[in-house]
Amino acid sequence: MRETISRLRQSFEEDCAAVTGSEDWKAVRDKYLAREGGLVTGALKKLRELPKEERPAFGQAMNALREFVEDRLDARLQAVKAGERDRKRPFVDVTRPGVPLAPGSAHPIKRLQAEIEEIFVSMGFEVLDLPEIERDYYNFEALNMPPNHPARDAQDTFYFDDATLLRTHCSSVQVHSMETRKPPIRAISTGKVYRRDPFDATHSPMFYQVDVIVVEEGLHMGHLKGMLDVFLKRVFHPGIKMRLRPGFFPFVEPGAEVDISCIFCSGKGCAKCKQSGWIEILGAGMVHPRVLEMSGIRDPRVTGFAWGMGIDRVAILKYGVDDIRLFFDNDLRFLNQF
Ligand code: PHE
Repeated sequence: MRETISRLRQSFEEDCAAVTGSEDWKAVRDKYLAREGGLVTGALKKLRELPKEERPAFGQAMNALREFVEDRLDARLQAVKAGERDRKRPFVDVTRPGVPLAPGSAHPIKRLQAEIEEIFVSMGFEVLDLPEIERDYYNFEALNMPPNHPARDAQDTFYFDDATLLRTHCSSVQVHSMETRKPPIRAISTGKVYRRDPFDATHSPMFYQVDVIVVEEGLHMGHLKGMLDVFLKRVFHPGIKMRLRPGFFPFVEPGAEVDISCIFCSGKGCAKCKQSGWIEILGAGMVHPRVLEMSGIRDPRVTGFAWGMGIDRVAILKYGVDDIRLFFDNDLRFLNQF
């Protein structure tokens, strides 16, 4: 009897040790513990055939064996499952050196755009996000450039149809802001503008602008000059000087071209400023009464000023780059310098 039990135990241990997957495991479990035909369960049934005095000892030994088998099977199943999980998991060699990632960085023009927006936000301006695909009305007509106005020619335009175009400047911020807000208004808009220009060292068919509009009671050229001075000193250098020359833009009256003292020679005269000591940087002026009126500003005490500036142009000057195309070529050797 003892022998039967120990043989059974030994063969179970061998079978159990050979289990490698959950299918094997089930087969071994059934071989020993199946209700019908299991070797352990079957042996227990023989209890009744034994002489009465042998029954308790045999019963105890068989129960112990069954518990042993159950425990071992449980433990084996855990091990088998863990092994199967590990096999599914991809092998990771934690000692392997990492792959260096080249983290991206903001494009110099985008960074300058953000810097400029920040200057205005600090002065209490709102930043409007306006459409690049614009209506003729906002780009030209409401800015005092009716159809066939000759000033339209100065900004060769990409048209979709008669009424829709790629904006040629950000000055549409004047109309959009006055249509949707009541004075006092302080707003800017920055972004891409498009013109049918050749792509060369100083021109690009797409470039960036920032346009500024301030509308409230009693504004005059003095306010425009004061704010321009603060802005230009923050963008370039606190030591720069500024001058206004008369200039024509249909949507301002009076209008001005604004120069800064040459940042390369501090105004002494060099090749960059063509020996003049000045560099033209932006267009500005008092918002034309017709523009105010068309955008719904009827109170004669309310006036406005506006200016518009090329962001790429500022980048070229600030970083001493002599070809605008470098900013659009996406050559990392160039971009990594910023
Ligand atoms: N929109 C003009 C340009 O693109 C610049 C400008 C803006 C001039 C506002 C005057 C007032 O050249």
